[in-house]
Amino acid sequence: MIVGRGGTLRRMEDSPSARLTKRLRLEQVGPTNARDLWLVHQDDAVWPWYDGARPSLGQAQRWAASMGESWRLHGVHKWIAYDRASGEVVGRGGLSRTPVDDDWGQLYAYLPAEPWVRATHDVHRPFSAHAHWFEIGWALRREFWGRGYAAEIGRAGLAFAFDVLGAQAVVSCTVRHNARSRAVMERIGMRYTGEIRSRGVVDGVAAEQDDAPFAVCVLLHDDWDRSAE
Ligand SMILES: CC(C)(COP(=O)(O)OP(=O)(O)OC[C@H]1O[C@@H](n2cnc3c(N)ncnc32)[C@H](O)[C@@H]1OP(=O)(O)O)[C@@H](O)C(=O)NCCC(=O)NCCS
Repeated sequence: MIVGRGGTLRRMEDSPSARLTKRLRLEQVGPTNARDLWLVHQDDAVWPWYDGARPSLGQAQRWAASMGESWRLHGVHKWIAYDRASGEVVGRGGLSRTPVDDDWGQLYAYLPAEPWVRATHDVHRPFSAHAHWFEIGWALRREFWGRGYAAEIGRAGLAFAFDVLGAQAVVSCTVRHNARSRAVMERIGMRYTGEIRSRGVVDGVAAEQDDAPFAVCVLLHDDWDRSAE
């Protein structure tokens, strides 16, 4: 065991389902990662992008349990990223299946007019999801910004989507003014396609709004350059 600078205890053994990148060990989020997930989401530079308030440990435990369920039932959800050398919690990120609902239905306008776009995944728990395209995202503890870790998680997510899950497309959405997240999307080869409206943070407004503008980036399998750095 080692004690990371964030005060968290980490096992240094690789779990069998972990994926390794050059600098990171990516573990599937489940109940045992709840405290590490909380460490990321309670960061003052992270939570304002997601929630109206800093999440409690209990909230993170519920998220971690739900992500673990999605890994079990949907075969994918977010990873927690640990520094391979130090074991420190760097951030969280990766893929998830997108719910079949009106919010995500707005994405149809930015995907090809082909049947795979609306096809649903066979397993309808914990929610009914699209079968052939996935959402990708990232969040890093503030001290790990500016070192390329988000792009490293992002590229690992694209490889998992296209090589392992057989995805046709990966999408990413962030509120219009989240320039750093949009830069990650572009850096890993995704292309801006337009905007949708959903509940989220609006620049300069304290409370979340129902119709916040979100920028959408898309990468189709056929446009993926696996060698892009
Ligand atoms: C969005 C977020 C993950 C982006 O993090 P980031 O550190 O800006 O992005 P990366 O990890 O890809 O790092 C890129 C930067 O590292 C630099 N860098 C330094 N060393 C590097 C290396 N070895 N390899 C690659 N890039 C490196 C790059 O030049 C780039 O610098 P720049 O920002 O000056 O252009 C981060 O801002 C965050 O956690 N925000 C809060 C949560 C959030 O908004 N999440 C998204 C919600 S949709």
